[in-house]
Amino acid sequence: MAIFYHEDSKIFDLHTDHTTYQMQVDRHRILVHLYYGRKIQGDTSFLLQYYDRGFSANVSDAGNDRTYSLDCLPQEYPCSGTGDFRSPALRILQDTVDSCDLRYVSHEIRKGKYSLKGLPAVYASEDEADTLDVILEDRVAGMRVHLLYGVLPQVDVITRSVIIENIGTEWFELDRVMTANLDLMSGHYDLLTFYGRHGMERNLSRNEVSHSSQMICSRRGMSSHQQNPMMILARRDTTETAGLCYSMQFVYSGGFMGVAEKDQFNMTRMQLGLMEEKFSYPMKPGSTFVTPEVIMSCSTAGLGVLSRNIHRCIRRHVCRGPWRDKVRPVLLNSWEAFYADFDSEKVLELARQAKDLDMDMLVLDDGWFGKRDDDNSGLGDWYVNEKKLGGTLGELGRKIHEMGLLFGIWVEPEMVNEDSDLYRQHPDWAMTIPGRGPVRGRNQLVLDFSRKDVLDEIFERICRVLDEGQVDYLKWDYNRSITDVYSAVQSNQGVVLYDYILGLYDFLERLNQRYPDMLIEGCSGGGGRFDAGMLYYTPQIWCSDNTDAIDRLRIQYGTSFGYPASVVGAHVSAVPNEQCGRVTPLKTRGVVAMSGSGFGYELNPAVLSDEEKQEIREQIREVRRFAPLILNGDQYRLTNPVKDYVSAWMFVSQDKSEVLVSAVASEVHFNQPVSYVRLMGLDPEAVYCRDDGREYPAGALMEAGLPVPLEKGEYRCYQTYLKKKQ
Ligand code: GLA
Repeated sequence: MAIFYHEDSKIFDLHTDHTTYQMQVDRHRILVHLYYGRKIQGDTSFLLQYYDRGFSANVSDAGNDRTYSLDCLPQEYPCSGTGDFRSPALRILQDTVDSCDLRYVSHEIRKGKYSLKGLPAVYASEDEADTLDVILEDRVAGMRVHLLYGVLPQVDVITRSVIIENIGTEWFELDRVMTANLDLMSGHYDLLTFYGRHGMERNLSRNEVSHSSQMICSRRGMSSHQQNPMMILARRDTTETAGLCYSMQFVYSGGFMGVAEKDQFNMTRMQLGLMEEKFSYPMKPGSTFVTPEVIMSCSTAGLGVLSRNIHRCIRRHVCRGPWRDKVRPVLLNSWEAFYADFDSEKVLELARQAKDLDMDMLVLDDGWFGKRDDDNSGLGDWYVNEKKLGGTLGELGRKIHEMGLLFGIWVEPEMVNEDSDLYRQHPDWAMTIPGRGPVRGRNQLVLDFSRKDVLDEIFERICRVLDEGQVDYLKWDYNRSITDVYSAVQSNQGVVLYDYILGLYDFLERLNQRYPDMLIEGCSGGGGRFDAGMLYYTPQIWCSDNTDAIDRLRIQYGTSFGYPASVVGAHVSAVPNEQCGRVTPLKTRGVVAMSGSGFGYELNPAVLSDEEKQEIREQIREVRRFAPLILNGDQYRLTNPVKDYVSAWMFVSQDKSEVLVSAVASEVHFNQPVSYVRLMGLDPEAVYCRDDGREYPAGALMEAGLPVPLEKGEYRCYQTYLKKKQ
């Protein structure tokens, strides 16, 4: 058991292999947070301090005790209305009155990890995890709250979710519901977040948490390119290899909100949960609400360890299905080769080229359905454009299979164009505000996935295509944010965005059940919905629409803080790069792209020279050789591509016997000094060997570093594979 309750002190201990999380039911039955950090034994309630603080109110049952204020205490689940004026985790309204007071009632410790109805959640076997369910109640409001904690010792992860029940006789409304709250009594912290835009996702930002409230959020109904639902609090002196840090990551693909604030007494609060704007969930007597899950981890050995904890958790306890642990097919995607402008001959020729270059799969991207020759029409009409394809999708799929290739297609099921048969038949299926013109994005509207009739019909249409086309791989795209939050069948519009995501998950779950062997890749204009919620249904996600190798260094660097290489879709594309015009060597494009397991090409091989084709064949041989190591290995960030002119990273196999080091120089100068990149994670006593027999003592590689050879020319790369000497 990883969870202990000490009856005498009323303390809960949650132990992982390297950390301890401790909380206590105090004398007023408030669940206070005590400690999260290095693994310890014993009682940490000495950390709690009580003083009479001006303007910090005292809960009613504290009577005249002016030293007891929730404004100054670290809490597990602070709510609005009890005198804590910091950011609340929960706010409910009863007849517009904002009041809530949660007290401990009981708890249950169970073997195994809890699951959440209708929502993705970390999963684990009975001996890999335990669950703590702490029950709090507000008797006046008639509300019971279950604080769920899932403890996964081997990956140093604690998950959290909250279930709220109306056990009373009156309605109340959920106005703000965070999933996780972490109050740290001491220390000064930086907040690390991952901001971006379409084509430049997950840039790392690191800022001091000052005496103010910092918020990251998405109001877009999707997790977004602009902020990723992932945040880290790190002690100010924490580095990649040393120091204390905490992460929170949302297992949810809709709008979210994350807060970090330092209060008047230097206590730091971190929260993550549902976006409170455009959210108000009515709770009638007898009803239940489940919050999406938050994955938390803690490292006392720097950000690298923190990321690797999360990587293991996502790789083994979030992603599912047969592709989770399998090397993925090397694919050729038609998008940057033809966009929507193709016919069957072009597609078959692309497939022949893919085969000739020894690839495994052809993916037919956007443009194969309805009336879809550009991105202004056709979404929603999920029937094959047989004129364009010169036959059925089944026939095309068969021909591609006969060439010895797998076959994949692109879909965007959540969307509709006004110029489509679907919209003409069912205009009310698109979300628009009555009486107003629709707000368009990419000239398309969002279908109301909070409605079951809409889900069922689109599901039927998509399945008909998949059944006919013998489809091995599906790219699930989503290309706009939600603006017009309105559902024709809802009386309360505050539930639409949440129910939409439940609908999306229901659809994806049904798809996974019906096509268990199909590889699904998530996508949203690249990485606009790159989150742990999607990863429960799609074991890889297209990381960015930006395929430029140098921009990708930053994108993949930022992504690596919260997501393993096993889930990253990354392709080699043509030069000059379509998105930014930069010219980089083919080798560099390959080295960067193969650091994601969803490896492939996004170009037209017919226009390549024979030398380039030969280089691609060799590149694919390398990819196949290193793929298991990249899929399952531990990733180390060796430099910072934003600050250092050599970007370097490495993968080390779990038994430390295999190592792959990759480096890319983003600057070049005459007569420049040598860059020595210090390796990490090796067996320090061992000697490692290169393919040509050259030996490297691990201690020296980790202390003095590996020299990155100087080469003339821009954006050169260096990759070396080392094996531990027996
Ligand atoms: C999005 C995707 C691209 C491509 C296009 C097709 O932008 O991210 O990879 O599939 O849609 O319209």
